[in-house]
Amino acid sequence: MSASVAVDPTSRRTFLKQSALAGAAFGFPAVLRAANPNSRVQLATIGVSGQGFTDIHNFAAHQKVAYVGFCDIDTANFDKADKTVAGVPHFTDFRLMFEQLGDKVDAVSVAIPDHMHALVGITAMQRGKHLYCQKPLAQTVWECRQMQRWAKKKNLVTQMGNQGHSSTEYRTATRLIREGAIGKIKEVHCWCPLTGNERTRRLEPPAPAPVPAGVNWDLWLGSAPYRPFAPSVYHPFAWRDWQDFGGGAALGDFGCHLLDPVFTALDLQAPLTVAADNSGINRQVWPVMQTVHYEFAGTAFTAGKTLAVTWSDGGLRPDRKLAALPADVQLPNLGSLFIGETGTMVLPHIAGPRLYPREHFADFKYPRDLKGLNHWHRWIDGILGGPPTTAGFDYAAPLSEAVQLGNIATRVCLPPPPQRGSNTQRARDVNTLRWDSANLRFTNHDAATALVTKPYRAGWVVPAA
Ligand SMILES: NC(=O)c1ccc[n+]([C@@H]2O[C@H](COP(=O)([O-])OP(=O)(O)OC[C@H]3O[C@@H](n4cnc5c(N)ncnc54)[C@H](O)[C@@H]3O)[C@@H](O)[C@H]2O)c1
Repeated sequence: MSASVAVDPTSRRTFLKQSALAGAAFGFPAVLRAANPNSRVQLATIGVSGQGFTDIHNFAAHQKVAYVGFCDIDTANFDKADKTVAGVPHFTDFRLMFEQLGDKVDAVSVAIPDHMHALVGITAMQRGKHLYCQKPLAQTVWECRQMQRWAKKKNLVTQMGNQGHSSTEYRTATRLIREGAIGKIKEVHCWCPLTGNERTRRLEPPAPAPVPAGVNWDLWLGSAPYRPFAPSVYHPFAWRDWQDFGGGAALGDFGCHLLDPVFTALDLQAPLTVAADNSGINRQVWPVMQTVHYEFAGTAFTAGKTLAVTWSDGGLRPDRKLAALPADVQLPNLGSLFIGETGTMVLPHIAGPRLYPREHFADFKYPRDLKGLNHWHRWIDGILGGPPTTAGFDYAAPLSEAVQLGNIATRVCLPPPPQRGSNTQRARDVNTLRWDSANLRFTNHDAATALVTKPYRAGWVVPAA
């Protein structure tokens, strides 16, 4: 673990200049291509507990990282971060941190609730900071697109925090699909057992309560519509359940993990259509159970002109018969199922892929040569001129947009079908949203198009690229 170290500003400036020149000469982006062994990436993390703590732990283990800032709206959280890297300056307000640190920061990692990813991330990118942002990239489709555009405009090295992407298991699975182990893919299912309001089990906000000492509630709310503080239902962690802050404990939280190998293996881009069924939704929290039906344009790795991808949560999951599983094998609790022309792949999150029917693959040699990459270090190495990141925003934005399109379909979903004589097919037909990705609109549903973005609290508007 590297401690917070002082970097000689003169040698640093020379290094950055040399790197930029080298980059320009070779047509590289303005990253630090001419590696100077003495240079470090000066890093600040915004949101230092929860996943932020895991991120700090991983970044601090990189020899070339020098931490220059910890930022959190809850001062109680600094103690634990300080035990990982001592002596790092503390900030409560990310805007003041950028103002005070100026050029002392090269790169920023963001691990705060989803509703503030775009504002904080874009504030960093506008200032030329390389960005590691937790998944999903942002809370709305429009924000995801702006994150991608700002990264491109400023020529930055980016990585989304869907670390499973770099795991041996997911890398092996995507390779098997791309090498045709089960033929071209006809259909995909992803499922997660969590419910949309898993953390609070509420339908409406509770009574207000005083804000605890050390918490800056106004900064926590940021761009979201004002609401009073209440304990245990927003900060920390439980914010996911609320439409104003997260994307549901299931799709918003796990969509970028479980759909990730599907996007990577099949080269998916924006869906053509999206539709959803659910167990009932109000304007506050996410539904207990939902299914989202995506249709994507076919690719070199799919069997048809289009590909159906189905997301299920809250205990819903695909029929195990689809997987051609032997009687003694269960579907995993959460994961993906690829149905190919010549077999199926079950990919648990995160464990090794398995191919079925068993008898077809009895002699199959699963590759053992793919090693996991360090998702966090890959970003630091990318900044220092190493290989490109694996989940940069050109990849992460379309993936996150698909997650948020599913959330839109859920929000405009028809009322749940009757219990008996079930009618989910009817709901789907009536409510299929046709997505025009280039123009960020649905061609057949104005109310859904209105949800592509969100209203911002005065003073907290996300700037378009
Ligand atoms: N990659 C993964 O496996 C993984 C796992 C969990 C969470 N996440 C993602 O990480 C992010 C954070 O989730 P979490 O579960 O850690 O949430 P959390 O609420 O537990 O922690 C968020 C942290 O950010 C701080 N914070 C909140 N708003 C802030 C602001 N405006 N400025 C500075 N600090 C702020 C909080 O005080 C807290 O320390 C989310 O986007 C989530 O989706 C990713």
